Amino acid sequence: MVSLASASPLWLRDNCPCADCRDPRNGQKLFQITELPDALAVDAVHDARTPEGSPAREVVWAPDGHRSVYPESWLGDHLPGAAAPGDGRTEDDKELWAASRFDGGLPEADWDAYRGDPAVRAAALDSVLRLGFVLLRGVPVHDRHVLDVAGTFGYVRETNYGELFEVRVEADPNNLAFTGARITPHTDNPYRDPVPTLQLLHCLVNAAQGGDSGLVDGFHAAALLRAEAPESYEILTRVPVPFAFADERTELRAHRPLIGTDPAGRIREIRFNNRSIGTLRLPTDRLDAFYAAYRRFGELLLRPELQLDFRLAPGDCLIFDNTRLLHARTAFAESGDRHLQGAYADIDGLASTLAVLRREESAR
Ligand code: OGA
Ligand code: ZN
Ligand code: ZN
Repeated sequence: MVSLASASPLWLRDNCPCADCRDPRNGQKLFQITELPDALAVDAVHDARTPEGSPAREVVWAPDGHRSVYPESWLGDHLPGAAAPGDGRTEDDKELWAASRFDGGLPEADWDAYRGDPAVRAAALDSVLRLGFVLLRGVPVHDRHVLDVAGTFGYVRETNYGELFEVRVEADPNNLAFTGARITPHTDNPYRDPVPTLQLLHCLVNAAQGGDSGLVDGFHAAALLRAEAPESYEILTRVPVPFAFADERTELRAHRPLIGTDPAGRIREIRFNNRSIGTLRLPTDRLDAFYAAYRRFGELLLRPELQLDFRLAPGDCLIFDNTRLLHARTAFAESGDRHLQGAYADIDGLASTLAVLRREESAR
């Protein structure tokens, strides 16, 4: 039997499941924290049963005599001492990888199976959360189909580039992406706050010489930096970097460190993009230290053993975590045909879709 002795009274009362405290129709809380009595204390505890008949503990509260019935199972999962799960977004909840992790093949799914079979869909979405990406194969090579792919797990994040963006050679490129230039590992749109957490790249044509793809696990790289050069890691988690993008219609900026951590210090978000990093304004000694650390991280990200190389074929759609993975492409001959359509979306929606799939799976 669980003991309530270690529970904080305000915490326990805040989690009262009774119908006066939570709307039974939606589970949402009906009171404000300021409405709880000042000298709140547990007056008595009894063994009890939930309305469904499971073992529970009943707490009688002083000074107001309110009664709360907590299922034993809930107490076991939530009382202090039970391991607190992370939010699913930090290094603790990921499988960090180097390229050789995929010697046996990429995490991939056939489009028809993905659409038709909830278990295939769940496995694919789980890959995005755990490994940072999945490759869908056999996606119809249709204009704007990338938007339908996003719709299978969430919602497109429209931006100044539109609902989708075209990656192909343009006559007057507002971004190096729209040339045949090599693009080194980067995250997209670090100049937005919030940054798009997911990116999709759907290959329509890839007949050019070159233009191969690369992915790097930025969490793994940051963890290596932390192990190899702790002072550099520290700087990159603390110095806000100004990222900016501007064209005739747009002027975007965001100030964020290259390595974002959660309040417990766990790696949670990478922003890295040499094309859109702005001008830092710091005292010279701090600039020296920042640039040494930035270079060191940049070198680490280029280690061949970290970069997973592959080539997108027409009908491939890559879905990846833009807060974790860096993506790259090799240069290609502008005389050749190459056309990708990209879109942004968000990972909370993908995680929600996966959670609902799993709920349905366990109900079967
Ligand atoms: C981009 C980009 C990848 C590619 O447009 O930001 O990374 O394969 N493109 O062209
Ligand atoms: Zn209550
Ligand atoms: Zn990009």
